[in-house]
Amino acid sequence: SYSSIATLTGRSVHRFELDVNQDYQINIQTLDSVYQEAIDSGRNPKILILNSPCNPVGNISSKEELKLVAQWAKEKDIYILSDEIYSLVTHDGFTHHTIAEYYPEKTIIFGGLSKHLSLGGWRFGMAILPKGDESISLIQSFQSIAGSIWSCVPGPIQYTAILAYSGNRNIDDYIKTCTKIHGIRTHYVHGKLSSMGLTSPKPSGAFYIYPSFKKWSTKLEKMGITTCEELSTYLLDHYSIATLPGSAFGDDTNNLCLRLSTSFLDMETDDQAQKILDAYSEENDPKLFMEKHHPRTTLFLEKMRKFIAEINE
Ligand SMILES: Cc1ncc(COP(=O)(O)O)c(C=O)c1O
Repeated sequence: SYSSIATLTGRSVHRFELDVNQDYQINIQTLDSVYQEAIDSGRNPKILILNSPCNPVGNISSKEELKLVAQWAKEKDIYILSDEIYSLVTHDGFTHHTIAEYYPEKTIIFGGLSKHLSLGGWRFGMAILPKGDESISLIQSFQSIAGSIWSCVPGPIQYTAILAYSGNRNIDDYIKTCTKIHGIRTHYVHGKLSSMGLTSPKPSGAFYIYPSFKKWSTKLEKMGITTCEELSTYLLDHYSIATLPGSAFGDDTNNLCLRLSTSFLDMETDDQAQKILDAYSEENDPKLFMEKHHPRTTLFLEKMRKFIAEINE
């Protein structure tokens, strides 16, 4: 969405690659060479957009990585838009860090209700701006954009947001429980896919898995699949598996990556969600919790196994 929004507002977009062989960490040399290319072509990049924990990879930027990026951005006097909407959804001892710690003067943090509170579709976003006069004029710009485009957040959602950010203990407990369930489910699916030969970084946050099918590219070609879009469509048409192609995130289509989301399976209605919450509080063993209470996740894994068998036929 960020690149389409930038294009809509007449800005140019300069993408820098994150390499799977470097665990999708930001490489300052790559970032800098994309920046220099933009300068050489007469552009003057002013904003760097970051996202950690990351959709689609599910990784978290380390402190060291963020310090280097902050130092680089400071030298170039670049604003950072840091999308931290998954900051409360971190797994297994991983901690979220914000780049605002190292570059408070020009970092704007974005967040919202939908991820940690399982409120997908509740349109509420928030921004934390740096102190200072520049932010006052930015707030005025935000207000005029919001006022002209969507007018305001609907009243009931505003009340929800007040409650969500009120420091309520029950809500904090709910967030922790949901995050634990996301972690169990995401790692379970990741482990099962790995055992089928589908490698991808082990997610440390959010609820996504980003496997590549590239090692099967020759076999897939024989099935008429040469791009990640074709792969995604094939899975939908033949196996009723919904995925997003990596190209939707700017990835090279020949990498044959797909973004899988584990958040919605088996929790599509409030009743189903409550059943999973109840089962979680009764079942201590994560493996049994998955096997006994996640029939559609199991079905998804069976279908994926069949698809991989078909590729290898
Ligand atoms: C990184 C990131 N930022 C922002 C959003 C927007 O979230 P929402 O529109 O649900 O508030 C999403 C949703 O998928 C996301 O993945």
